[in-house]
Amino acid sequence: FNYSNSMNTEIGDFGISISDIDNELEKATSCIQNLRDKEENGELGFLDVLKDNLDNYEELKEYSKNFENLLIIGIGGSNLGLRASESAILGSLTSRYDKPKIHYMDNSDPEKTNYILKKLDLENTLVFVISKSGNTIETLANFFVVRNLMKKKNFNWTKNIVSITHDGELKKLTEKEKYIHFDVPKNVGGRFSVLSSVGLAPMACAQINIKKLTDGAKLMEKSCKLENIFKNPALMNSFIHYMMYNRGKKVSVMMPYIERLRSFGMWYGQLWAESLGKNGFGQTPVTAVGATSQHSQLQLYVDGPKDKIVTFLSVKKFKCDLEIEYEYESAFKGYKMSEIINSELVGTENSLKFHNVPTVKIVLDELNEITLGKLFLMYEMQTAISGEIYGINAFDQPAVEHGKKIAHEFLTKNRSRGMSNELHSKNHV
Ligand code: PA5
Repeated sequence: FNYSNSMNTEIGDFGISISDIDNELEKATSCIQNLRDKEENGELGFLDVLKDNLDNYEELKEYSKNFENLLIIGIGGSNLGLRASESAILGSLTSRYDKPKIHYMDNSDPEKTNYILKKLDLENTLVFVISKSGNTIETLANFFVVRNLMKKKNFNWTKNIVSITHDGELKKLTEKEKYIHFDVPKNVGGRFSVLSSVGLAPMACAQINIKKLTDGAKLMEKSCKLENIFKNPALMNSFIHYMMYNRGKKVSVMMPYIERLRSFGMWYGQLWAESLGKNGFGQTPVTAVGATSQHSQLQLYVDGPKDKIVTFLSVKKFKCDLEIEYEYESAFKGYKMSEIINSELVGTENSLKFHNVPTVKIVLDELNEITLGKLFLMYEMQTAISGEIYGINAFDQPAVEHGKKIAHEFLTKNRSRGMSNELHSKNHV
């Protein structure tokens, strides 16, 4: 974890000085102490789950081998962690061709649900329905459509359903119809749930090594609990983001230079936005990917408003590499593609530095279950620490609940009046 390009030694007065960090040392220590108290009070469920017995998933993993497909129905925190893991570990391409094939239903868009259903043989599909609250409208809508289709097919369909929930309508149905069930602990919020049953049960079935993933997280947990800011990457990164926020950096760009971490950016985006966007505070997360976004976003980052801090993620070793063979003279001839993408990162990093845009960089030796587990835990801790710094509860999302309530009222009130008329009559010409 390298933060030198956020320091004044590299970007002049726009950067942070060592004495700026020294001024925050007391606050940093108290953040760690507060979190320690919260953990003792059972408020940090995302750390408690690291003590879970992984043998709980063995039987399900064996059972899932009977199926060609996994269908994941869930949204937000009940989707993004698994998605990030699948693409980080299995690779965005390989997983599409290997068994089992994984399909995601998150949105309540009828076209998308219909498209997925057309491809699926439901008898050969293990359906995960994931909702901590058990009442999320998008998840229930998709699940009810799938359930109904399965029922009509007249096979022993309840054996194809794995329900991961804690409460609500889904919990009731799970008990009534006796689905395979895993609980989501009450103290684990959706966006902090990737290392709980929400992520681990389907990951085990997708042949991701969950033991290594949680081992990586446990290794990182130790560092992220240290009071010494210079030894604790989560603590340092949360203070760098906080100090930059106070210098007007209201946007946090996550820019991995490896395709397999593209979805990790989405996971981070939810964690950072939903946890910290409260009481008028919060840094807006933006997801980019190098080198592709150099050709769409970089102009803005370098020469637009000075309101951003950029995080780079990169790897020293890719799963495979390709050498560029070419019979004519060319500047790239003989180089490996990994050398090209990593040089592009150097170019972007230095260009941003030249324009006084702060950046931090995390370099992984390679991207595997251990390093992914470390990344997940580091960012969960960084978010929890940031909640302490801002003095806000990082674990609730009252504004999201508000929107859900209005949507529900709108849906039920308008049924009798004919909703499509209502939708088309307001604010439309
Ligand atoms: O982080 C959160 O709590 C939310 O994003 C939830 O994960 C999301 O709203 C889905 O909720 P549920 O798992 O209850 O269906």
